[in-house]
Amino acid sequence: METLIGEGKTKQVFSYDSDHVLLRFKDTITAGDGAKVDIMENKGVINAQTSALIFRLLERNGIRTHYVGMYDERTMIAKKLKMIPVEVVLRNIATGSIVKRLPIKEGEIFDPPIIEYFLKDDSRHDPMLNYYHLEYFKLMNRKEAEVVESVMMRVNEVLRDIIRKMGFELYDFKLEFGRLGNEIIVGDEITLDSMRVRDPKTGRILDKDLYRKGYDLKTVKEAYEEFLSKLEKVV
Ligand SMILES: Nc1ncnc2c1ncn2[C@@H]1O[C@H](COP(=O)(O)OP(=O)(O)O)[C@@H](O)[C@H]1O
Ligand SMILES: [Mg+2]
Repeated sequence: METLIGEGKTKQVFSYDSDHVLLRFKDTITAGDGAKVDIMENKGVINAQTSALIFRLLERNGIRTHYVGMYDERTMIAKKLKMIPVEVVLRNIATGSIVKRLPIKEGEIFDPPIIEYFLKDDSRHDPMLNYYHLEYFKLMNRKEAEVVESVMMRVNEVLRDIIRKMGFELYDFKLEFGRLGNEIIVGDEITLDSMRVRDPKTGRILDKDLYRKGYDLKTVKEAYEEFLSKLEKVV
């Protein structure tokens, strides 16, 4: 049975069987915690395909994800997880909120990378959390956070390598995790909505920052398409 059981800004969740869901990627593109919204034609297909390729790549590299297969071109079959409403961000190069929040300059390199936690709460603009908050809200204990961080680092190695093969650089990315039994595995999506990717030679942006910065939807779509077609050639 396929009943709608959840819906967010960019995906719908349908029940599939007792331990799987369908994730249907919509054509919606949003920024500013949903304050700016548009329809970018075919975006759902592009993002579903991008996610599928990256999840398969991670699985081949021994990283557990919720990915099972594709139901149609914009719908993923995934293991049903009890999602943890936290965005885990890994930063290799400074850009975005961190350069506004802290005395850090755009383009500064983090070696080792910096990992941050944010509560998924649009009305509060996704406040940052530390281990005490994670524990207090019963989101993750410290041991689980350490597991999550080691997964973030391994995902970073794999993603960075593949993106370099495409001639680009991975500035940062966000993952969402969920529980399956007593394991915590990678869920949600990995797309240009959730990563920052730039051309290191020209500084050209390929990710959702194009939309955040007000570029027209045609420019945004062409960047998403170019990234996917280059990804298809290297994975
Ligand atoms: N494997 C999964 N099992 C169950 N729910 C999932 C899974 N992967 C992602 N989700 C959920 O799908 C919902 C829709 O995603 P999305 O549209 O990106 O939401 P949001 O607007 O909160 O970012 C989210 O609540 C997310 O937690
Ligand atoms: Mg989302």
